Amino acid sequence: MKPPKKEMEKEKMATEEQLKKIRTDIDWGSLGFNYMPVKSHIRATYRDGAWSKGELVADPNITMSIAATCLHYGQAAFEGLKAFRCKDGKVRVFRPDENANRLNLSAERILGPGFSTDFFCDLVRRVVLDNIEYVPPYGSGGSLYIRPLYIGTSPQIGVAPATEYDLLIMVMPVGPYYKGGLKSVRAMVIEDYDRAAPLGTGMIKLGGNYGASLKPAKIAKKQGFPIPLFMDPKTHQYVDEFGTSNFFGITKAGVYTTPKSSSILGSITNKSLQQVAKDLGIPVECRPIHRNELGDFAEVAACGTAVVITPVSEIVTAEKTYNYGEECGPTLKKLYDAMTGIQYGERPDTHGWTFEV
Ligand code: PLP
Ligand code: COI
Repeated sequence: MKPPKKEMEKEKMATEEQLKKIRTDIDWGSLGFNYMPVKSHIRATYRDGAWSKGELVADPNITMSIAATCLHYGQAAFEGLKAFRCKDGKVRVFRPDENANRLNLSAERILGPGFSTDFFCDLVRRVVLDNIEYVPPYGSGGSLYIRPLYIGTSPQIGVAPATEYDLLIMVMPVGPYYKGGLKSVRAMVIEDYDRAAPLGTGMIKLGGNYGASLKPAKIAKKQGFPIPLFMDPKTHQYVDEFGTSNFFGITKAGVYTTPKSSSILGSITNKSLQQVAKDLGIPVECRPIHRNELGDFAEVAACGTAVVITPVSEIVTAEKTYNYGEECGPTLKKLYDAMTGIQYGERPDTHGWTFEV
């Protein structure tokens, strides 16, 4: 992303002294993906047709009307992005402009007010700066997970959108989403449930989509499969995505292949990986993937902000089991190194994806 131009904006950026701040009471090497209270979150409110400029709040509890639309009618959307402590000591957020765009899409779909990318990035910068001591050290493999939450808060009992909204951004230090980092996981195709409807809300990041995925995810986990794989909800013949991440695979012919579907979330990680693959000379195809094609892949992975790239060792469907091996494949490893290299400032950010706080 472009660095701030105006002097005033430069003043908002982290000083050398702020960048040195780091907690000494956290075991950075053993972080998982668990909630951890931090110093503050930031809260902006939409009322009377305008957003407030946002304030940092120490109390992690929020109060709202019992009739708030986010509680009854699903006016709740969220995002996920990360800040990284880089090799040069700076802290950078990965593609927050993309999250601003996607959250605006979610807001539009649930009839909530939009906001500018600059407004969103400013909130992100302020909350990361205030919690800078929680950004894990370079080399620990951790990052600061940033979770924006967009909710309708005003009371409304006839089914209609709220008139007031909160945009809250919480942060917490995280390690790998699945235990073991680049260790592979087993996936199970969900045959009896869908996470989204054919013309529904699968392509946006609504809280309700995750409510729909809880039961099938539990069923899969109980049988030893940490990742549920959903098929397209209309025909169940084509691969859609995992419960918390996109699907991509490297075919035996060496093509990065990922599903084209109107019911999956447009993953920022997947979009970035497609560019990284092209930069590495790997051909990329985004097209419907029939379930019978699962045997054509040499390597399969889940990708997303939380899961980064998680190799998939096997996919179990009702009719067949497909094996991709326990080890992380060579192309996945190359993509992982290139992507995390950009995020941690070890490789040049040639596409201008990172945003310095
Ligand atoms: N698909 C789903 C259902 C997700 O929850 C996520 C996580 O955000 C993704 C895909 C990956 O998206 P991104 O790479 O933007 O984090
Ligand atoms: C993310 O990767 O940011 C997600 O939102 C996935 C999940 C933890 C819901």
